[in-house]
Amino acid sequence: MGRGAASIQERSAEGGSAPGRTAVLAVGDRPDERLLGNTLPEALQAVRLLVSCGDLPADYLDALAGRFRVPLLYVRGNHDGRVESPSLPGENIHGRVVTAGGLRILGFEGSNWYNGEGVQYTERQMWWRVQAARPAVWRFRGVDLVVTHAPPYGIHDAPDVCHTGFKAFRAALQTLRPLYFVHGHTHLDYSPQASRVTQVGRTQVVNAFRSVLLTVDLPVRKAS
Ligand SMILES: [Fe+2]
Repeated sequence: MGRGAASIQERSAEGGSAPGRTAVLAVGDRPDERLLGNTLPEALQAVRLLVSCGDLPADYLDALAGRFRVPLLYVRGNHDGRVESPSLPGENIHGRVVTAGGLRILGFEGSNWYNGEGVQYTERQMWWRVQAARPAVWRFRGVDLVVTHAPPYGIHDAPDVCHTGFKAFRAALQTLRPLYFVHGHTHLDYSPQASRVTQVGRTQVVNAFRSVLLTVDLPVRKAS
């Protein structure tokens, strides 16, 4: 199976949805009001898909969906599951593979379990969630983009239990080998050493904090 090339930009670079290419705007954790300004940078006008990595207010996601008028896929963050949280706009892709923007996309919600409030999973629970998604991944013959709230263990994560990444995601990186693994939860301003992007094998692991624009050459797939 052919795989497309991937490049990453932070809002202002050139790129977008040229033929054979799609532009995905990923958001997470904190609203980026620049996305709702009067004028959009040219690269953002080419956005064909919105993905939310969680912990964002429903009215902000609603405003983004109205602004860009493209499909919105999301996973819930650990703060999205409280009883008072309003329902979120878009399509929840937790544990599911969907196709959008020409890409096969798989999502997983929540953070590592730390106090039981909100959307939290133990490592074992998340391992089972990842295993449960395998038949869908097989039916779609792989995935191009994985969207999560928490990072993989040891990549963009932190030592405290709340911000420790999932080992199940680290294993999924090796077996699924997506073009992108996009997550939230670990805010880039937590640490001056924090990285936006880390390359792991063929996968770019990307922290979507606030917003990041992903440009993907669409995979070339053989007819079955
Ligand atoms: Fe979070």
